[in-house]
Amino acid sequence: MAKFIVEGGIPLKGEINVSGSKNAILPIMAAALLADTPSIINNVPDIGDVHTMAEIIASTGAEIEQIDIHSWRIGGKGLHTSHIKPDLARKLRASILMVSPLLARRHEAIFPHPGGCVIGQRPLDTHFEALKALGTRITTDESNYIAKIAHSQGASMFIDEVSVTATENALMLAVLSPGETIIKPAACEPHVVDLANFLKQMGARIEGEGTHTIRIWGVDKLSGVENYRIIPDNLDAGTFAIAAVATKGDITINQIKPDDLDPIIHKLTQMGCEVNLNRQSVTIKHAEDLKATRIQIDTWPRLPTDLQAPFGVLATQAHGTSLIHDWLYERRLMYTEDLIRMGANITQCDPHRALVTGPTKLYGTKISSLDIRAGVAMVIATLVAKGKSEIDHIELIDRGYEDLDGRLRSLGAQIRRVNSESENKG
Ligand code: EPU
Repeated sequence: MAKFIVEGGIPLKGEINVSGSKNAILPIMAAALLADTPSIINNVPDIGDVHTMAEIIASTGAEIEQIDIHSWRIGGKGLHTSHIKPDLARKLRASILMVSPLLARRHEAIFPHPGGCVIGQRPLDTHFEALKALGTRITTDESNYIAKIAHSQGASMFIDEVSVTATENALMLAVLSPGETIIKPAACEPHVVDLANFLKQMGARIEGEGTHTIRIWGVDKLSGVENYRIIPDNLDAGTFAIAAVATKGDITINQIKPDDLDPIIHKLTQMGCEVNLNRQSVTIKHAEDLKATRIQIDTWPRLPTDLQAPFGVLATQAHGTSLIHDWLYERRLMYTEDLIRMGANITQCDPHRALVTGPTKLYGTKISSLDIRAGVAMVIATLVAKGKSEIDHIELIDRGYEDLDGRLRSLGAQIRRVNSESENKG
């Protein structure tokens, strides 16, 4: 097990390149199985979740090969089982994205309840609602869900939640279901749009991606895509932007997609930061007197839940009282306990709301990462804090961030990764 040792108090300054999007590549890896001919996918982030998804795909017999650090070849040839292995499914909530490709190719998917970050209940009801509308029957045995296509058909569906991965599963099954499908209300996050673009390049007929109504006309067959470039990760860009301004530094982030940063730039500007946006890069300068704000989380295009914790850390450095309201998950404010231990002035109102009054000095301490986003938020807190901190369970952060410590060091941060066991022995 590895941990980060951080010496805080240094303003982060310089330039980084944003990584490819985690939440775009995971469904696209699954979607590549819809064709026998392989797709070559570029700008893939080198992160833990991609490697876990690759293990899941490899365990089905399908074709998967890492060509270089950021490129993969993936195709459905060789797919010979309908089972998702429980030990792998438990590691990754996004393993649920394998269900539609398995249904489309093998008319059957057998899978346990997926694991992943412990951030709330995360039910599968909306996924099942969408799959059932498309002609799937779902039963259970003592350890698995068993989904079988009874009668494949397009359908007009109104589903209960604006769910990202349920929309993605519905899309992946509908593109090969006969007739017309309408998904309402569809999630419209940039990564859902990226999946739709990838499917279109495979030969799918889709309209309305990026809105709450997506229309699909089923086709008989899809083919692999020669060279597909995953969109830049707006959450990675947002995380680095927040880290820089929280430490009173300035940053330029290259290779961005400006529109995908709208709610993040809006919030940073509202807090008083100076933002200079170009076609492919953004420069963000810290505010001397950062202003408190309302961190109201919602589905796209409002502020994403995955940046709630980093913004929560930033609020500790702002003048006044900020309200955090994250209604999506009921366990995504747990990191505030650690922030309070570090010196923050936070009132936890209920599982979904907290009041943060700042600015407060933070002091270094020992912390355990709770999940990908709470973990990275605590890295930001330790970069702000006076003195030395240790953060363990950083494998959770590695699930979603490529070379976080290396990229932070390139901005001047004093952060190093040590293997806990080797340090204990030493
Ligand atoms: N929810 C509602 N009502 C709604 C919409 C959502 O109650 O109308 C609740 C859901 O029940 C769930 C939560 O909000 O508990 C999130 O919903 P969603 O189904 O959209 O989440 P997901 O598809 O399981 C994806 C991302 C998550 C991200 C969420 C929300 C992937 C692989 N995962 O999950 O990413 O937090 O959307 O944007 O795309 C992460 O990257 O760290 C991560 C957890």
